[in-house]
Amino acid sequence: MTDPRTARIRRVTGTLVEAAPLPEVGLYELAVVGHQRLLGEVIRLEGDLATLQVYEDTNGLATGEPVVPTGRSLEIELGPGLLGSILDGLGRPLPDLARTHGDFLPAGAEAATLDPARRWDFTPVVAAGAAVSAGDLLGTVEERPGFQHRILVPPGTAGVVATVASGPLTIREPAVTLGDGTPLYLSHRWRVRQPRPVAERLGDDRPFLTGQRIFDFLFPVAEGGTVAVPGGFGTGKTVIEQSLAKWADADIIVYIGCGERGNEMAEVLSEFPELADPRTGRSLMDRTIMVVNTSNMPVAAREASVYLGMTLAEYYRDQGCRVALMADSLSRWAEALREISARLAEMPGEEGYPTYLASRLGTFYERAGRVRCQGAPERTGALTLITAISPPGGDFSEPVTQACLRVAGAVWALDPSLAHQRHFPAVDWETSYSEYLARTQPWFEREGGAGWGAARRRLVELLQRGRELKEIAALVGPDALQDEDRLILESARLLRELVLAQSAYSATDASSPVGKTLALARLGLALHDAAAAATAAGRPLERLDLTGARRALAALRDAGPADWPGLVAGAEVAVREVAGREVAGREGGP
Ligand SMILES: Nc1ncnc2c1ncn2[C@@H]1O[C@H](COP(=O)(O)OP(=O)(O)OP(=O)(O)O)[C@@H](O)[C@H]1O
Ligand SMILES: [Mg+2]
Repeated sequence: MTDPRTARIRRVTGTLVEAAPLPEVGLYELAVVGHQRLLGEVIRLEGDLATLQVYEDTNGLATGEPVVPTGRSLEIELGPGLLGSILDGLGRPLPDLARTHGDFLPAGAEAATLDPARRWDFTPVVAAGAAVSAGDLLGTVEERPGFQHRILVPPGTAGVVATVASGPLTIREPAVTLGDGTPLYLSHRWRVRQPRPVAERLGDDRPFLTGQRIFDFLFPVAEGGTVAVPGGFGTGKTVIEQSLAKWADADIIVYIGCGERGNEMAEVLSEFPELADPRTGRSLMDRTIMVVNTSNMPVAAREASVYLGMTLAEYYRDQGCRVALMADSLSRWAEALREISARLAEMPGEEGYPTYLASRLGTFYERAGRVRCQGAPERTGALTLITAISPPGGDFSEPVTQACLRVAGAVWALDPSLAHQRHFPAVDWETSYSEYLARTQPWFEREGGAGWGAARRRLVELLQRGRELKEIAALVGPDALQDEDRLILESARLLRELVLAQSAYSATDASSPVGKTLALARLGLALHDAAAAATAAGRPLERLDLTGARRALAALRDAGPADWPGLVAGAEVAVREVAGREVAGREGGP
């Protein structure tokens, strides 16, 4: 207590603590703060005075209490047992914490990310005498039914294998020892703010299939790409993130929830574990890890949580998995950053956000990508990042949205007026874009079906023309438009309903295979062409009977994965028949 070298708290401001003397401590090093043993991270150093951000409630903390550096940075233990877990921003499993402490976490509560007592059946693939280096496969354990977790040599490690264990092992028992005595376990620790190394970054020409028509068809994202989903209150950001978690073509999902409201996270927490994995019928949690923060958790833990989620995603990427990382919403992270910066009395940038906001965001997005993993056997992994952003008042000119728009490869902009009309996903197709479009088109043309690109171009043209005509019609009235133009208006509306809209709650249409997406677009356009040919031949638009064809197309849209292919031929016939069909009982014309 009386040791003059012990660092003491000099000042407490919210969750910021100043302590001295700390002459040896490093930036981002962790320290144990106060008698309650709170965890804090060094975020500023001036001489031997250190400023720490504390991850927990600092109520009751007093000046003079001790601060003890740990020599470690904010880390997470990576190994089997992560899948299915729900962690807080510091990597503590929430259900475990709740079991030991109830719903209100006491400060300084500790819980291991991975269960140290659990045994895993380790099947080695290396033998004594083998030279191994970072990323090399040592063996596997079955983490969840059907998922082989690859145990790899941790980054920065190399040597010759001396002994190999097999059979049931805990993460505290060496799986392999190297010639120099270094033990390698089923798990290892990693500093979350540091990107995990890869052998090579690869191109992004393979699409990350979402099962959502508007994304796959109009604004595709590449595997390893980054997407920003900005949208005001209630425009459908969370539903999009969850639909992707459920339906996107990914092996592993890491979901970071930074909710503004505690009850919103409670919803996610109660609903998510109930979701069934459409691939296996088992729980979606079998291939999901959730990192959860609510606004009642300290800002510093919220700030850290995005790095924790990113590190988890990189860890599975390194095993050769295709990982989708969802963050909902990144605005909450930026606000945490702003709060910490304000307490540090840093020079504020736009709207009080720190001037380094954009560069921090940029470095975060850069950790996504498709890569050749370190080590043998040769494998590629991908980390696709989808971030929701919630601009206050839905104003996209605010700094966080602007910074995200600059770094994201694709933007799915949500429009409150579409949400208001209950057109979902409420994606504004005029302001959304994807820079992965050209590179992913060859894949779609090959796998989605020939004519994909042509149909896409025509659909966009028709939507644009429809948009212009809508403005004209608003001025002169729809009756003043020619038949040809009124047909374009109607066809644009039909295609929006058929192709762009998709209910997340439909039992059969929540996910759309690329073949069905193309069939709907192609037939919707064919219907337009058939009707346009008839009106060009002098038949008045009112006299054309489009109802049968529209009904056939709606049935196609609402058909499930097994049923839709059987409806295509019938829909084609219904579309072709439009030319010969007239509205009954309207003899004599208008
Ligand atoms: N694809 C969809 N299909 C059907 N309904 C949808 C879809 N997307 C959104 N909705 C409807 O919109 C509501 C709001 O969506 P959501 O909660 O995802 O919005 P949000 O942008 O996350 O809102 P907040 O800003 O409050 O976080 C949903 O409860 C649902 O009724
Ligand atoms: Mg939401």
